Parts: sequence; structure tokens; C-alpha cells
Amino acid sequence: MKQLNGLIDSQQLEKDVLEEIFSTADEMKIMVSQETQLKEEIRKAKNIEEALQIKKSNSRHPYTNLLSGMILGNIFYEKSTRTSWSFKIAMLLLGGMCVNTDDAKTFSSVAKGESLEDTIRVLSGYPLDVITLRYDKVGGAKRAQAFSSKPVINAGDGKGQHPTQALLDIYTMIEVFGEPTNLNILIMGDLDNGRTVRSLAYNIGKHYPKNVIHFGSPEKVKIGDDIKEFLSRHNVEWHEHFKLTPDLIRSAQVVYQTRIQKERFEDNLTLFREVEAESELFIVDEDFLEQMDENGIIMHPLPRVNEITYAVDNDSRAHYFQQALNGIYVRMALLKMILIGY
Ligand code: CP
Repeated sequence: MKQLNGLIDSQQLEKDVLEEIFSTADEMKIMVSQETQLKEEIRKAKNIEEALQIKKSNSRHPYTNLLSGMILGNIFYEKSTRTSWSFKIAMLLLGGMCVNTDDAKTFSSVAKGESLEDTIRVLSGYPLDVITLRYDKVGGAKRAQAFSSKPVINAGDGKGQHPTQALLDIYTMIEVFGEPTNLNILIMGDLDNGRTVRSLAYNIGKHYPKNVIHFGSPEKVKIGDDIKEFLSRHNVEWHEHFKLTPDLIRSAQVVYQTRIQKERFEDNLTLFREVEAESELFIVDEDFLEQMDENGIIMHPLPRVNEITYAVDNDSRAHYFQQALNGIYVRMALLKMILIGY
């Protein structure tokens, strides 16, 4: 049996591993559905005897309690809702346990000046089994892995990468379209600071090159040259746009919207305001929906601010909440492949 030794960036994953993650995620989805159904039946029981009988007589999915006795340590230097919660829930659903430090810059000895290296050396020396790290600077996960005696999962490193987000993004596209091929993928928003976009572009570039990527953003936060170079090297057709046109909207089967990453502009609020004003051109609203392919989908890693209006949420093309839910299945798959193997 093989084991994944953590996950630092999108490029490290080969296609067979990616496919294994997605098929394991499918299995996790079945398991979660069965467990949810069982909980509902127990809740509907007339009395405690019936509840206990339902619990006893139901055969459980083989992955239930798969990670029993194992411990996930979550240490987050930057704020998170989805990544933090979905990793915790994934671990709990598999019967494992979690230890968490959210906002580590305030609620851990990082506030006293402890380095990332010392923090990780100590935490990984404890009898836990895997660490998820969200760090505020590029390269944090890689630095942590060098000092960790346990596998490290990159839960976002500054404006660097967010590889588990890219996995759930691709998983969501596969759910709708099958293997992503011949799609026009319109990626919008703060493409300079958006780590989810970088990880997604690396993934598409390496494994799904027969798609066309359109980057749409204010010029001041355009996609980095390193990403363009990577895509060109992998023969992916890409285009850059600094305004939205009806043709561009109409041609997209996948619209991947992102927010302007305000926290990356702390030293330059003037620039933030300029970018914010220019990004008004890229808002996904009812007008946008009218022009968009009826079979297309709208994705967003979330959180959103105002770049997708609330009126869009009820449209069948809005997939961002399902996308967030898929994070549970994909992260369950990753934890299984790291802690047990595949
Ligand atoms: N998509 C994402 O990373 O969300 P959080 O910042 O809430 O974890």
C-alpha cells in the first residue's frame, strides 16, 4: 500500500493520485450519506430501545472509524471557516480526533515570538499523526514540512497556494462535466493575490491541458507571469482580459469567481480602493446570468464579499455551496490516503 506524505503544492500530485483522491472522495460521499440516513432514523425512533436497536442492526460503512485513535493537529495563522471546519469534520467523520489552534498569531506562543520552525518541531513531536497548516506567507507549508516529523497539509500559505481547495474545485467540475475537457474556464477576481487560483491553474495545467483558461481581472491584480509560463509550457491555451465582454461571458462553461483579497493590501489601502473600484466590472449578478451559458456553472472558493450578488444564489448554475461541501469528501479522502494509504 502507498501513502501520501502530506500535500504542499498542486504540482506534486500525479494524475493517478489525483484520480485516487477523487474516487476515494466518491466513497466518502456514500459513507457520509449512509451515516446521515442512520442518524435520521435514530432521531425518528419512538423510544430509546428502538433507537439502540436501529443503531445495532445497521451495518456501517467500512470507513466508519477508519481513523480511530488518530489525531489531526490544525494550526492556522490566518483566519478560516471552510478549510478549518471541513478538515475537523472530515477527521471526526472518520472516527479520528482533532486539536486546533485558530488564529495562532494571537492564541499560541507565536504571539510571544516563537518561530514557525520551533512551533512545528514541537507539535509534530507530540503523538499526533498529521498537521494542517495555514500560514500567512508563501512557502510556510514547505518550511514546516522540513521541520516536521509528521505529514503536513498546506491549508493555504499567504498568496502562494491552497492545494486542497484546488482538489475540491476540480472534483466539483468533474461532478458536473466529467473529466474537464474542452471547457472554457473563466477565472476572475484578484488573480495576483488569490492562492486558490494559483493552485487551480497548476492543476489544470498539469492534468487537464485540453481546456481554455480566460483570466479576467483588473490589470493591477492580473495573474502572475509564473502561472502564464507554466500553462504555456504545458500547452494550455490561455487569454487575459481586463474587462468583461458579452462574448467572454457567453463562451464560459465554468465561471470561477474570487474576491479581492483585502488582507494582502494592508500596506497600500489606496491601491486596494482602486482595485476594488475596477473589480466592479467583474461582478456576477443577474445581468451576467442572463448572458451566461445555461449549462455553465459558477464557482467560488468563498468567502465572498460582493463579487457574486445574493440574487445569483438561487440560480441552478450557482455551485459554490456544493463546492464548499465537496471539501469534506475530498479532505476525508486525503486524510485516509495520508494516514492509512491507498
Ligand atoms: N476557501 C477557503 O479557503 O475558505 P476559508 O478561508 O474560509 O477556509
